[in-house]
Amino acid sequence: MAKTILVEREGRVAILTVNRPDKLNALNDQVRVDLLAALAAIETDDSVGAVVITGAGEKSFIAGADIGEFAGRTPFDQRHAMRSPRIFDIMSTFPKPVIAMINGFCLGGGCELALSCDFRIASDKARFGQPEIKLGIIPGGGGTQRLSRLVGVGQAMRLILSGDMIDAAEASRIGLVELVVPADELRAKTLELAGRIAGMSPLTLKIAKESVRASEKMSIEEGVTYERDLFCLCFSSADKEEGVKAFLEKRQPQWTGR
Ligand code: COA
Repeated sequence: MAKTILVEREGRVAILTVNRPDKLNALNDQVRVDLLAALAAIETDDSVGAVVITGAGEKSFIAGADIGEFAGRTPFDQRHAMRSPRIFDIMSTFPKPVIAMINGFCLGGGCELALSCDFRIASDKARFGQPEIKLGIIPGGGGTQRLSRLVGVGQAMRLILSGDMIDAAEASRIGLVELVVPADELRAKTLELAGRIAGMSPLTLKIAKESVRASEKMSIEEGVTYERDLFCLCFSSADKEEGVKAFLEKRQPQWTGR
């Protein structure tokens, strides 16, 4: 049986590819299990500085949950399928940067997976949507929460209540993706940026992510105070000494992650 998750390396970047192109990379139970295992291995691998997630083939990033698995399922079956740990939560709290490289259909659970990443780079041919309403269900991978936080309640309502698909230009306009590039440049542009990010201090990346993520939970006063504490914490690291020294000596820093 073909592997549902392909893992490649390019320097310090790990590229995870959901590999069910004949089903437009729909997320089934096996994909979830394999993705969790791949992320667990990457989390403890110091040679990986950043992660890129994408879909196999030209057509689709991830076309949602595998609808075939929904037929005949009871609430108990579904609750079991949605047991913790969930990929959306693991990805949104992952200590290393995670970038969605969106190469085509980005629908339902696929869109929710992209929303769980730190940011999103899309091909100009990508299409986005939360079509669950057309199946008599609602987004269940955090879509009602993360989409509305990213694009605002009004745009989230429009997409979730209509199930309509939007193109990459519109997704960019409403803030659902951070960068749109021509399809044939998607991989090169994404890996160039991911590579530069993966070359930063792993310790500082982790703290920067933690501080930005705190903005989703804290008031502005709490968040700014938390940021100040994390900023000062950076002053205890060897990488802060090295970063500042390298600047003053007009050379590239050599990070140690300490
Ligand atoms: N779950 C299971 N199978 C899926 C799937 C999904 N979410 N999305 C696509 N597929 C399968 C199709 O059933 C088809 O399989 P088959 O060849 O064995 O019949 C194959 O992938 C290709 O899809 P197809 O529908 O033929 O491609 P298309 O170009 O005509 O349409 C979409 C593309 C994305 C518009 C259409 O596949 C679609 O609407 N998918 C479901 C999207 C969705 O509702 N996602 C949310 C799920 S909660």
